[in-house]
Amino acid sequence: MKKILMVALLLATSLTAQEAQKGAAALSPEVRSLLAQEMQHIEKGMQSIFSNMVKGEYENITKTAIDIENSFIFKRKLTSAQRSELKEKIPKSFIETDRGFHELAGKLANAAEFEEKENVQKYFTEMMQTCVKCHSTYAQHRFPAFVKEK
Ligand code: HEC
Repeated sequence: MKKILMVALLLATSLTAQEAQKGAAALSPEVRSLLAQEMQHIEKGMQSIFSNMVKGEYENITKTAIDIENSFIFKRKLTSAQRSELKEKIPKSFIETDRGFHELAGKLANAAEFEEKENVQKYFTEMMQTCVKCHSTYAQHRFPAFVKEK
């Protein structure tokens, strides 16, 4: 009996891991496309912040970081049916990573407002690390370089 339970537990754990790996691949084309739009938007923002960091244009950084902080597809663009879809298909940890990312954007905006150079660099780096962390966990279908078994 114990053995059966163990096997069941192992199976359940590996299934959850597989589900998590699937990440956004399981979403409907509409929701994936919204997510892709959001991603292209934040990618542009990050590129602009980089350019402004090396030029010391802190006001521009503040504006862009606030824009990224607020560009939450989960809040703004989704219909309620799409929200339910996300809840069903996307692991909670994905939403948490996304929330953490937007919080970092807020911290970056704040640091830029007060021209705290080191903190600007710190939060920018942390944001970039979050891009990679999320992609390597939930977007392997889109970025196969992050698949571990190679
Ligand atoms: C919370 C998770 C998460 C975070 C954080 C995240 N991404 Fe993504 N990103 C995804 C997922 C999932 C996809 C794949 C969507 C799909 O095609 O299914 C993706 C796709 C993309 C794409 C491809 C969009 C397209 O046209 O198909 C770009 C570009 C991108 N991300 C840039 C970024 C950048 C830059 C950052 C950080 C500043 C970032 N992402 C942070 C989850 C995330």
